[in-house]
Amino acid sequence: MRRREFLKGAAATSSAFVCSFSRAIGKGGDSYIEVFVDEPIGTISQNIYGHFTEHIGGVIYDGVWVGENSKIANVHGIRKALLDRLKEIQPPIIRWPGGCFADSYDWKDGIGPAQGRPSHTNFWEVDPDARRLHEKGLQIFDNNAFGTNEFIRLCKLSGAEPYLAANLRSLPAIDFDRWVEYCNSPADSTMLAKRRAASGFAEPFDVRYWGIGNESWGCGGNFTPEDYASEFRRFTSWVPEYGQDLQFIASGPNGDDMDWTRRFFEELSTGHAYKNPHFSGWSVHHYSRVPGDGDALQFAEKEWYELLLSGNRIEQIITDHWAVMGEYDRDHRIKLVVDEYGSWYREGTEVDATHIFGQQITIRDAVLTALTLDCFNRNPEKVSMANCAQLVNNLNALFLAHEDKLLVTPNFHVFSMYAAHQGARGVRTNFAAPEIKFAQNGTEGSFWGLKGSASIKEKTLTLTVVNPHVTETRETQIVLRGASTHSATANILTARDIHGHNTFDEPNTVAPRSAAVPATGGLFNFSFPAASVTKLQLNLA
Ligand code: AHR
Repeated sequence: MRRREFLKGAAATSSAFVCSFSRAIGKGGDSYIEVFVDEPIGTISQNIYGHFTEHIGGVIYDGVWVGENSKIANVHGIRKALLDRLKEIQPPIIRWPGGCFADSYDWKDGIGPAQGRPSHTNFWEVDPDARRLHEKGLQIFDNNAFGTNEFIRLCKLSGAEPYLAANLRSLPAIDFDRWVEYCNSPADSTMLAKRRAASGFAEPFDVRYWGIGNESWGCGGNFTPEDYASEFRRFTSWVPEYGQDLQFIASGPNGDDMDWTRRFFEELSTGHAYKNPHFSGWSVHHYSRVPGDGDALQFAEKEWYELLLSGNRIEQIITDHWAVMGEYDRDHRIKLVVDEYGSWYREGTEVDATHIFGQQITIRDAVLTALTLDCFNRNPEKVSMANCAQLVNNLNALFLAHEDKLLVTPNFHVFSMYAAHQGARGVRTNFAAPEIKFAQNGTEGSFWGLKGSASIKEKTLTLTVVNPHVTETRETQIVLRGASTHSATANILTARDIHGHNTFDEPNTVAPRSAAVPATGGLFNFSFPAASVTKLQLNLA
């Protein structure tokens, strides 16, 4: 649509304002955003803004857990600075204890008095890097100081709901039942409830979300989809409920592995068809990488776009799995749970050598995270939960911590800005901007020019927008269809340099800044800086 025709259709036209920000590097072409305020697309599950913590490298030990006797400020052993910052992003749900670690974990090792807990070899000892890092102090023997009680405490202190991943590969189903019993049986009822009470937790934990194995096509047992379906059926039948509406999440595919989805659902629905009202989630993992895995800090423009292209595949992955699931689950009772996503680079930028899969986080990763969250927001009927991998000292982290130091990464700021979408009513949007062209190994690559999502809570409209262009500002017209605004504010996350990131010495290099937006009526202009994530909050008249 040409700009003139577009303007004619605007619901309410008022004076157009242009907010130019200091980093206006160049001019975009015709760009516009339409927000259809009267066209709801579903409620955005707050659990889309979930997190993931695994016993790997520096996530739990050094990241979350410093121990009760530590000189580092802590609350019952949990790093206090982490708790304080976590509250700012309102974490709805946290997944634990893995990842691959989950399928080697015996929850019984992690309960009772700390001094009586056994030390065991951590799953990640299988990783050649871990063995090498052991020399540098990596704890590959887990002393189980952090177990179920401590994890539940992390959740309670940060206001999150727990999501536990059960071991399907190396423990029998009775251990799963008993873990549910330990967590959920009423006070003073079972022997396990009494053990829980002896640790100071008389009341049940009321854990609702349970993952049944992790990556069962790989580290979770190398199953075929048919064999995994049969195990899933066995593990989830007749699990004690204790009045809880249990939610079972099956171990779904890696990225676009449609074969895993189709064959699992085919097996479950043929012959003695499986019907279990608690089966509500189908897990999907999608990591974003550049060819050769690349470096988190040293990258060319081409790799900026390659990472975003890899992340952008999530939209098709969601659409395709959803279509296959619908062939078997016609009412779509089972939703997608993207319980691992984020960028993944080669080692070398972690804040401590013992942090396996630890990496620095730049504005590139923040843009990736934002476009992923926007995609979930645009698909609220399909995606019921997502967990960024992982919370601290690992892959797409929100925090980096070592000894007494902690910093928030650009990803933290994205979560902070996007928290307004949690539980809000998603509405339809239309984004139009010139495609980005870039040089990619002798050919021309392309990427979309502007995208985002919108939601409404009471009289506040939140519009989040990603401008992925590394150098160009996007001059954009924003049209509200079916509403008008009387005031607006903006929060903008960008960096002087596309490699911008935070360090312990300079922790605020990448941080959002706020700006007033002189917008009234149903039409206004806004300049989205290059390489940025923006949140616009509009107060509707
Ligand atoms: O997040 C790191 C690892 O990536 C997880 O343990 C595993 O599930 C995935 O392959």
